[in-house]
Amino acid sequence: MEPIKIAIDGPAGAGKSTIAQELAKRLKYTYIDTGAMYRGITYEVIKRGIDINDQTAIIELAKKININFVKGDLYIDDVLIKSEIRSNDVSQRVSYIARIPEIREIMVNAQRKIAINQNVVMDGRDIGTNVLVDAQLKLFLTATVEERSRRRYQELKEKSVITSLKEIEEDIKKRDKMDEERSCAPLVMAKDAIKIDTTEKTIEEIIQQIIYLLGERI
Ligand code: C5P
Repeated sequence: MEPIKIAIDGPAGAGKSTIAQELAKRLKYTYIDTGAMYRGITYEVIKRGIDINDQTAIIELAKKININFVKGDLYIDDVLIKSEIRSNDVSQRVSYIARIPEIREIMVNAQRKIAINQNVVMDGRDIGTNVLVDAQLKLFLTATVEERSRRRYQELKEKSVITSLKEIEEDIKKRDKMDEERSCAPLVMAKDAIKIDTTEKTIEEIIQQIIYLLGERI
C-alpha cells in the first residue's frame, strides 16, 4: 500500500507543530518538522560566522552538511540540535535563508526522500503546494496574529528561550510577510487543502476533526 502523507501548512504559530506532533503520535506516523530544517541551516550559518547575504557560501554549506531526523530529533552532521534553533537570532534570519531557491531545492529533496517509504505528518509552508503535492490530506492552519504570538511566547518560555511578547509579534508579522511574498514556493494555501482556524479550538477538537477528515480519504 502507498504510504499516507498528511501535509500541514500555515503561518508561524498557527499550531502546526503541536497538532502535527500529536497527530503523528496517535496515528504512529513519522512527524517531520520542515521548519526545523530551515532553522538548522540558519543556526549553522550563524555559528560559522557566514554573512547572511553571502548566498554562495550558504548554498555551499547546505550541500556539505547533513541534516536529518532520528526519532523526531534533528541532527546536523550527527550532532543533536535542540532549542538552539528556536533562538531570536535564528528566527530573525531564517526567512532570508529559506527564500534562496537552491536551499529550498536541497531541503525539499531531503523532505520528499523521507516520505517515500513511510507514513508521515509533515508541517511547513509549502508542503501541500510543493513538497508533497500528492498528499492524501492537506490542511492549512490559521489563527489571529495575537493568538499566534501568545502561543509562541508560551512555547518559548517553556523552553527557557528569553524573549518578549512584543518581539515575537514583530518577528511573526515580518516572517509571514517574507514567507508569503517570496517568489520561490511562497506560503499559500493549496487549492485542495482544508482550512482550519485554530483560534478558538482546543487541540483535541482539531485532532478529532483531522482524524475524521483522514478517515474520509483513506
Ligand atoms: O515552522 P517554523 O516557524 O519553525 O519555520 C521557520 C521558517 O522556516 C519559516 O518562517 C519559513 O521562512 C521557513 N520555512 C519554509 N518552508 C517550510 C518550513 C519553514 O520556508 N516548509
